[in-house]
Amino acid sequence: MEIVIAPDAERCSIIVADIITDAIVSGAATLGLATGSSPSGVYTELISRYRKKRLSFAHVHAFLLDEYVGLPTGHPESYAQVIKTQFAEHVDLEPCRVHSPYVKDTDLFEAARRYDTRIAKLGPIDVQILGIGVNGHIGFNEPLSALHSRTRLKTLSEQTRRDNARFFDSIDDVPQHVITQGLGTISEAAHLVLIASGTQKAKAIAAAVEGPLSASCPASILQLHPHATVVLDEAAASQLENAEFYRYIHDHKPSAQRY
Ligand code: F6R
Repeated sequence: MEIVIAPDAERCSIIVADIITDAIVSGAATLGLATGSSPSGVYTELISRYRKKRLSFAHVHAFLLDEYVGLPTGHPESYAQVIKTQFAEHVDLEPCRVHSPYVKDTDLFEAARRYDTRIAKLGPIDVQILGIGVNGHIGFNEPLSALHSRTRLKTLSEQTRRDNARFFDSIDDVPQHVITQGLGTISEAAHLVLIASGTQKAKAIAAAVEGPLSASCPASILQLHPHATVVLDEAAASQLENAEFYRYIHDHKPSAQRY
């Protein structure tokens, strides 16, 4: 695992945007997209590069990691809608190339299986962006998810519903269920790129990076992956103990960026 520690969240976003830009310029055609706060600066940076004509997504297929079950179509917090308004509608990524689990199906188990098959058919995903939950989840693979799990229906933990209540009027409005790519599905991407900032993520990051490989911390599967990059600000890295093995970026200036 490559661990990159940057001074702040803004610099983390630029580093991740550089990884995605390099991949697309080299011909990558499938991106895995996460939602939530962690990757939003990455999307802003990619939009800015697209507007400066340094990047095109016209040939890209994008796959969302997960989707809430039970929100009305077009709800602003449904992840398909979040990706549309935060990213896809601002670049040349056609709506038919943005894929997410179909959560209106009467058979959600079958809908999850179909999504897994579609990823396998159009994939493998070249670069998968990941955030991490304070309990170590990636996608919505909550602790004790099977390490080889496929895309499936999951129940959110109380912790995750509390954490995500900030996007809704109250915790009661946060859905109980989601369809999420499984840990096995996520692991098939060629390059996993996890971005995290803030002290609230420090414990989960220490468990994922330096703890044992364990279903108690689903993000620890990155330890098994042949190409995983973890991009952290100093606060998220603050509980790591093996500083000499990590790459520190010291300059605050985004002017060092290549795009
Ligand atoms: C979202 C997702 C989740 C989030 C995680 C962190 O698509 O898959 O794993 O990445 O819950 O969320 P934030 O970034 O809001 O702290």
